Amino acid sequence: MSSTSAPGPPAAPGAQSAGVPKAAARRLLIIGPQGAGKGTQAAILTSRLAIAMVSTGDLFRANVGGGTELGQLAKKYMDAGELVPDEVTIAMVSTRLDEPDAVPGFLLDGFPRNAAQAAALTELLAGRGQPLEAVLHLTLPDSRIVSRLSGRRVDTRTGRNYHLESDPPPAADVEAGFVVQRDDDRPAAIERRLQIFHSQTEPLIQLYADRDLLVTVDGRGAVSEVAERVRDALGG
Ligand code: AP5
Repeated sequence: MSSTSAPGPPAAPGAQSAGVPKAAARRLLIIGPQGAGKGTQAAILTSRLAIAMVSTGDLFRANVGGGTELGQLAKKYMDAGELVPDEVTIAMVSTRLDEPDAVPGFLLDGFPRNAAQAAALTELLAGRGQPLEAVLHLTLPDSRIVSRLSGRRVDTRTGRNYHLESDPPPAADVEAGFVVQRDDDRPAAIERRLQIFHSQTEPLIQLYADRDLLVTVDGRGAVSEVAERVRDALGG
């Protein structure tokens, strides 16, 4: 199976498909730059595969919304576009993966984001005898990222993402204050998040390519087109 679904940019150097049949993969992670559509595609994919969506960003935002101690700690990092400290993030993911809905499978979104988190994940899953089976790498050129993020609006009740141009939210929900812009979707925080992606997260793509887990998918085009590419790339 090819690791890159056409049409799209070239796969990361060394990217190859793993020996494990991707259509059977139930322990996955999705990686890519901010605004590539990871959360959007993760929601579609986890619904189709009936596996748990484990998004560190969503978990942190739920804690912020709930006013928990973890949320209060995470908010100051998130609003600045910085990473929440590793030990806090790793503990949160470990707890989440223990929940019953993650037993049949999971898709990690937003984790790992640096080498320390990647090493912790490998150790965590090895300890459970449940190694990753595929890593979905969603690409998007930097030139398209800012418009994706600055146009994003989120329903605070459900976490559903909208986009002002490609997928506008219902006007009544905007007027009622249910649909808002994320605090980290402002220009300064976007710039910092992208810096961190390129310096700390992007090197993990090669790591997973070297492990023969990587499947690269072009994130350009309509949501449904990208979802179709994801389905093709995973052989589903
Ligand atoms: P997180 O929530 O994970 O944010 P992110 O990685 O910055 O990713 P985004 O949610 O911005 O982008 P996405 O790729 O999911 O795009 P989306 O589908 O929404 O993390 C937030 C913060 O939490 C971090 O900055 C950090 O502080 C903290 N954090 C999280 N994980 C951490 C970790 N492991 N360690 C430490 N700290 C951590 O799409 C974007 C927009 O585009 C939407 O409006 C959508 O509607 C639209 N869109 C999507 N696809 C398409 C398409 N095909 N065509 C047109 N529009 C589209």
